[in-house]
Amino acid sequence: MIESLNFTNNCISGVYLVLPPTPAIGGWEGVGEIHSVGSAVVALSPGDLVIHAAYLSGTWQTYVVEDQSLWYKIDKNTPIEYAATVSVNPLSALRMLEDFVALKPGDTIVQNGATSIVGQCVIQLARIRGIHSINIIRDKPDSDKIKEKLIKLGATKVFTESELEVKGVKNLLGDIPKPSLGLNCIGGNAANMVVKFLKQGGTMVTYGGMSKKPITISTPYFIFKDISLKGFLLQEKNLDEAQYRCSIDHLLALVRAGILQYEMEMVPFKDFHIALEKAMGKQGSQRKQILKF
Ligand SMILES: NC(=O)c1ccc[n+]([C@@H]2O[C@H](COP(=O)([O-])OP(=O)(O)OC[C@H]3O[C@@H](n4cnc5c(N)ncnc54)[C@H](OP(=O)(O)O)[C@@H]3O)[C@@H](O)[C@H]2O)c1
Repeated sequence: MIESLNFTNNCISGVYLVLPPTPAIGGWEGVGEIHSVGSAVVALSPGDLVIHAAYLSGTWQTYVVEDQSLWYKIDKNTPIEYAATVSVNPLSALRMLEDFVALKPGDTIVQNGATSIVGQCVIQLARIRGIHSINIIRDKPDSDKIKEKLIKLGATKVFTESELEVKGVKNLLGDIPKPSLGLNCIGGNAANMVVKFLKQGGTMVTYGGMSKKPITISTPYFIFKDISLKGFLLQEKNLDEAQYRCSIDHLLALVRAGILQYEMEMVPFKDFHIALEKAMGKQGSQRKQILKF
């Protein structure tokens, strides 16, 4: 089983809002190989690559025995680290782009946390649909390099937070339309930056709070711009099995075609404590940590 340290580190530290009852086995996503099947199983055979049905925890196990209906067979040509990580971050990016605002080619979205895996997926999925993306990143000494990377992925514009400390952002948009959808995974001032770009009647969807700072939006944005604030939680989406499979198949097809990519680091399970430290940001910004059992 291969698993990414995504929700897992927040669950282990007990700060995630949705926690399994303890004692619990860690892990929210992953890929495994079928070891053996019972005599009534026809859809799966030993050697098949499978991911778990939606939103079940407990993937940190060498062997798992469960009903065949809980396993979803995937194409063996899928890079294993993408198979292990597709069911949370890329799926969230896809759903947020599709489920809140009816976007069409030529429209614009704006997001903070653009360097996150969700953020990188949003950029690429938007580009594939011909949607412009405005991306907000933290100020850092190497922010020019980060901007270059995101532009290569398909970002239309990338700004550091300090570049947005201006009265209006209209001049920064050039000839692209104002965004109707904003995505916020940081909170605090970075959420205000997103709202600042939104067009009249635009919607900001909050799906994370990496800065641990509350969102405070100025009153005029509600009165004069009529903006809406919404939240997103993947586990609450209640995608039915067909929707889940269709979304996963779509994302993994993009991965196999080489048009959906993000950076990851594979770590042997015995070094999980190092991976956890990195995932918790104790060594600065890091690539996504993927545990290999
Ligand atoms: N609601 C849902 O269903 C759902 C689903 C998936 C993910 N999420 C949430 O989405 C967020 C992103 O997840 P991910 O796995 O894609 O993240 P990730 O790849 O680990 O990236 C973390 C992001 O947060 C930024 N960041 C970290 N600490 C920060 C701080 N103190 N202040 C400001 N920015 C900070 C990082 O910026 P740098 O690159 O500058 O370090 C990076 O952009 C997380 O909050 C996660 O819990 C929610």
